[in-house]
Amino acid sequence: MFCFSNTLKHMATKLIIDGGAPLNGTIAIDSSKNALLPIIAATILTRGLTVLKNVPKISDIENLLHILVSLGIRVKWQDGDLYIDTSEIADSRLQTAGEVSPTVAGKIRGSIFVLGAILGRFKTATVPYPGGCAIGSRPIDLHLQGLRDLGVRVVERNGLIVCKKPNRSLLSATCYLDFPSVGATENLILTSVLGKTRTRIYNAAREPEVVDLCNFLNACGAMICGHGTSTITITGVAALHGTTYTAIPDRINTASYLIAAATCGGEVTLTNTVAEHNANLINKLVKAGSNIKIDGDKITITHHTLGLPRYARNDRRTPSLRAVAKQSQISIHTSPYPGFPTDIQSQLAVFLATRRGTSTITENLFENRFKYVPELQKLGSKICVKDKSVIITGVKKLNASSDERLPLALTASDLRGGVALVIAALAAKGTSIIHNAEYIYRGHAAIERDLVALGANIIRVDM
Ligand code: UD1
Repeated sequence: MFCFSNTLKHMATKLIIDGGAPLNGTIAIDSSKNALLPIIAATILTRGLTVLKNVPKISDIENLLHILVSLGIRVKWQDGDLYIDTSEIADSRLQTAGEVSPTVAGKIRGSIFVLGAILGRFKTATVPYPGGCAIGSRPIDLHLQGLRDLGVRVVERNGLIVCKKPNRSLLSATCYLDFPSVGATENLILTSVLGKTRTRIYNAAREPEVVDLCNFLNACGAMICGHGTSTITITGVAALHGTTYTAIPDRINTASYLIAAATCGGEVTLTNTVAEHNANLINKLVKAGSNIKIDGDKITITHHTLGLPRYARNDRRTPSLRAVAKQSQISIHTSPYPGFPTDIQSQLAVFLATRRGTSTITENLFENRFKYVPELQKLGSKICVKDKSVIITGVKKLNASSDERLPLALTASDLRGGVALVIAALAAKGTSIIHNAEYIYRGHAAIERDLVALGANIIRVDM
């Protein structure tokens, strides 16, 4: 039986961090939240039992499960694995608009996947608008336009989205996305896997999470090809069965811990990773002086914050400090995969805030992703926003409060920006307190546990 943890309640969480020390040790990366959300929604399309291995208990996933349970699906968590049994879904129940609670759906962006999955299975669907982190306007026009292109009748009424597939199956259907939206691509795939239609999605998103969703669906009996490229072809099948599946490692959390190690210094090994998914970041960190070794699913990063170790300074093969400093003056533009991910720009900004030179990061995806900037300024960083960019001039040291009874107060505004503040507080000398840390737990099962394992001085306080 599924028991909801406290994450569904409105719980205020604070993190108290005493920073300034390097990070050392080994931690395992959880499965990807952004891969699991559409995969969990996809189980609506299947009949039978699906076991998802190694699923982190994070609030975004628990909120989505809440929606599934409200639809009559049986869900159980056991030893870190998630059991989802769809064998006894009453079809009529799923088609009832009221079954998808607007209160729960409004909390997470991932709830939009329920639309594609219900529509895919029952040909009609009525769901509320989705929520998610307040990082921008986050419209769903591409989802809805894509559905219309596939012949779906879409009506938006009283805060609900009402969709109906054509009565007679089309032989083939095509949609061209104006932008390779991750969510729209995933939703259109979910809508199209069952039936007799051959669907082609052009300008599809190529993110590893989209590929993982397709791999999961194919393991359930779907016929999808082209995933990982910008043209995805889906040949409809009559039914999908359950399966046992392990989602890809979380590349964003991998990136956050790599950046934390590079910012604080030390030697950190991450297991359960796919280095290729972070190739862009790894390349940037190496250019900025990190030593990164990849061995199968392990990534080890060694970074000396005070420059190169003494033994390396006279080594001709090692780039000089001046050269390393020069290379750290970088300019980054966020863009869809394999471009630089928007989800790690705030964390990287913290790293750049402690490097010599001036760098810029231009955010091309979400307009509200700079809310962390005034918080970083409190730590003494030289960072400012100009239009769609942040301009960062590195300082020698970030500083928090020297009085641990009066910690420097920082406030998280979203998941990734919150993680950026954690990294900054870890690197800063002194004590900080991060308010609204519950945002961070949307994507991390236990960030404080991971960081304590790396030697950090961090305490979680739930109110
Ligand atoms: C997903 C990720 C999120 C990540 C983002 C980009 C999940 C649950 N979330 O979000 O962590 O930051 O990809 O990698 O997987 N857009 C529209 N109309 C739409 C849909 C999107 O204009 O209908 C715009 C968005 O405002 C944004 C851009 O397209 O500017 C990218 O959004 P999208 O790829 O859809 O991101 P999400 O799926 O919401």
